[in-house]
Order: sequence, then structure tokens, then C-alpha cells
Amino acid sequence: AIIAAATSAFHGPPHRQLHPAVIPHGKGGRSSVSGVVATVFGATGFLGRYVVNHLGRMGSQVIIPYRCDTYDTMHLRPMGDLGQIIFLDLLFSSDWLLLDRASIRRAVEYSNVVINLVGREWETRNFDFENVFVKIPQAIAQVSKEAGVERLIHVSHLNANIRSSSKYLRSKAVGEKEVMNAFPEATIIRPSDIFGREDRFLNHFANMRSFGGVPLISLGLKTEKQPVYVVDVSKGIINAAKDPDARGKTFAFTGPNRYLLFDLVQYIFAMAHRSYFPYPIPRFAYRLIGRLFEISPFEPWTTRDKVERMHITDETVPHLPGLEDLGIQATPLELKAIEVLRRHRSYRWLSTEIEDTKPVKTINS
Ligand SMILES: NC(=O)c1ccc[n+]([C@@H]2O[C@H](COP(=O)([O-])OP(=O)(O)OC[C@H]3O[C@@H](n4cnc5c(N)ncnc54)[C@H](OP(=O)(O)O)[C@@H]3O)[C@@H](O)[C@H]2O)c1
Repeated sequence: AIIAAATSAFHGPPHRQLHPAVIPHGKGGRSSVSGVVATVFGATGFLGRYVVNHLGRMGSQVIIPYRCDTYDTMHLRPMGDLGQIIFLDLLFSSDWLLLDRASIRRAVEYSNVVINLVGREWETRNFDFENVFVKIPQAIAQVSKEAGVERLIHVSHLNANIRSSSKYLRSKAVGEKEVMNAFPEATIIRPSDIFGREDRFLNHFANMRSFGGVPLISLGLKTEKQPVYVVDVSKGIINAAKDPDARGKTFAFTGPNRYLLFDLVQYIFAMAHRSYFPYPIPRFAYRLIGRLFEISPFEPWTTRDKVERMHITDETVPHLPGLEDLGIQATPLELKAIEVLRRHRSYRWLSTEIEDTKPVKTINS
């Protein structure tokens, strides 16, 4: 009876029995037990750092399947109480779907929540977008369903669209469909571009100063963006996992303000106290630059697909529920951009107040 009560304190009727060690108790906080046992795929990435911390902070057990060097998981270890964060090796080969079902199964079989954050900004020889955004999520969804997992949270992208000019976004749209087919009660989260300390959005533009200026297609005057704060996305994911009404729903997570890309980049440079030299660049020339980075043996700074995504206007999806439906008030970029951009300032401006920078012009949508 205690075990059943513990499970229903989290959500719904129990599919499986909870181990007595995860019966909810305590006042909340890292040393209590929330009753959540969550497997987080892609935990070693940007968003994963925040999601694991939020889970750990409320006293959850977190299972982290990883494929990288153990050293790259070190920052996640202190995020939970002693022994509450468990790391599992995922071994990959080119026939990974055959190989990995067993290791996915091992990672999800004791969890009541599975969160999929696996993603990649560019394609590699072994992992193209179809693999990362369709096959991996599909396998996670199928195996989670078979294992009797209660909640699956799958992170997609706001602009996921089967007709998109970006392969990344087309694959995301197909991935969403496959996840819903395999696990109809899954919750899909569609965030816009995410900003935060380790992001590849504000940092990407701020780093362009080393190229002497910022190339933008049509000067960024035809692109509208509505970036969202990483902490809000992470809280939204946790709240969606706790909310039984979020089952089978798709959420769009966006920031409170919408900007022209030109104005946004201008603000980034103003906040970093760096000179802003935007210049228009034809699409074919920018794509050519992306292609050159793609064939270089190093991590590509940009790719043809990233160039496309960067210039796609964020969708407005008033029909989808958002952060506020999960009890979260979206944080304005103007309040948090400094967390990202202070390190792009020169010593002279390091401690200048953020009020000294003119707020970015917003678009009334
Ligand atoms: N960042 C954004 O602005 C943004 C916006 C909208 C949606 N999203 C989506 O949100 C999710 C998380 O984004 P993020 O920014 O945290 O991504 P990220 O920093 O690139 O992290 C991606 C994670 O996925 C793992 N991964 C990548 N390829 C894999 C593979 N083939 N097999 C297993 N694991 C793999 C990585 O592991 P390794 O450490 O081993 O590489 C890493 O842990 C992604 O699905 C992304 O598409 C992100």
C-alpha cells in the first residue's frame, strides 16, 4: 500500500512497483526523495546540465546514459545527493539500433520518467540528423513504452516542420511523429533558440567579433526571433513531467519578447560593449562559408543548415500551450543576457551595470 501511495503521489495508477528507497519523503530539496526516478538522455549537453540540476535539487534519482568521456560527466556528479545520480555507459556502433536497444532498456527499466535531450547541431559521418532526431528518439520511445515508463518528455524545436528548408527542422518534425506513434502519452516540448551561459546562440553571435563583423542574410531585417531562457525550459520540462494533464500534449516554449534578428544582434554587441559591424551577405555566399566549415576536420563553427536555421523566423503558435500553462513566467532576455555576455566584455567594461545598455527593440506580435 505504501508503495502504491508513493507512486500515485507522483502521478497516475502504478504500472510498476517503486522500490522502497524511492518512496517520497522529506521537505523537498536535494536530500529528500521526490519519488521521481528519471532517465535523462543527452544529459551531458547544454540543456542537460540544467535539467539534471533541477531533478537533483528536488531529490530525484537520475540515471544518465552517456557516450562521452567520463571526465565530461563530472559536472553532473554533485547535482544530486550521494548515490542519487547513476551513470551508465552507452556503447555505440554503426548498427546502433540493434546494439543499443538493450542498453536503452537497461537505462529506462527502473524509471518513471524518461527525458530525451539528444541533439546535434551538425551531422557527422555516423550520426546524421535522421539518426539523431528520428531513429534515436523512436528507439527511446519504443523501448520506454515496452518497459512501462509512465512519462516520456521529448525535446523538439519550435520551428520543426516537415516543409522547412533546414534538414535539422524537417528531421525534428518526423521525430515528433515517430515518438507520438510509439508513445502516444509522450509530452513534446518545442523550445525556440535557447540562451544561457553555455548556449550556441548569444555566444555564437558574440564570437563573430573575431571575424571583424557580423554577416547576416538581408541584414537580419527579415528574421524574427523569440529566444527562451534555459532555466525556464528546464523548469518547464520538470513541471511537464509532474503534471498529469501534460500527457500527450505539445508545448511551445518561447521567451516573452520577439525581436528582429538585426536588433537582437545589435543588443548582444551593445551588452558586450563591442563594436557592431553588421553586413548583408547573399544566402549562397553564407552557405558556401558553412560548407567550408563542414569539410574542415574541426568542429564546424557554422554549417549550411545552421545558416538556414539562424535566418528562419520563429513560428507563432498561439494554439499550443506554453510555459505559463506549466506555471512559469518566461524570463526576459534583457535580464539574463548579461550572464552569457559578461565574458565577452573587455576588462574595462567587465563590471558595468546592465542598465547602461539600451533595451532591445521588441516587435509587438
Ligand atoms: N540549444 C538550443 O538552442 C535548442 C533549441 C531548441 C531545441 N533544442 C533541442 O534541445 C535538445 C538539447 O539541446 P542542447 O542544446 O542541450 O544540445 P547539446 O548541448 O548539443 O547536447 C546534446 C546531447 O545529446 C547527446 N548526443 C548527441 N548525439 C548523440 C548520439 N548520436 N547518441 C547519443 N547521444 C548523443 C550529446 O552527447 P555527447 O556529449 O556525448 O556529445 C549531448 O549530451 C536537443 O534535442 C536540441 O535539438 C535545443
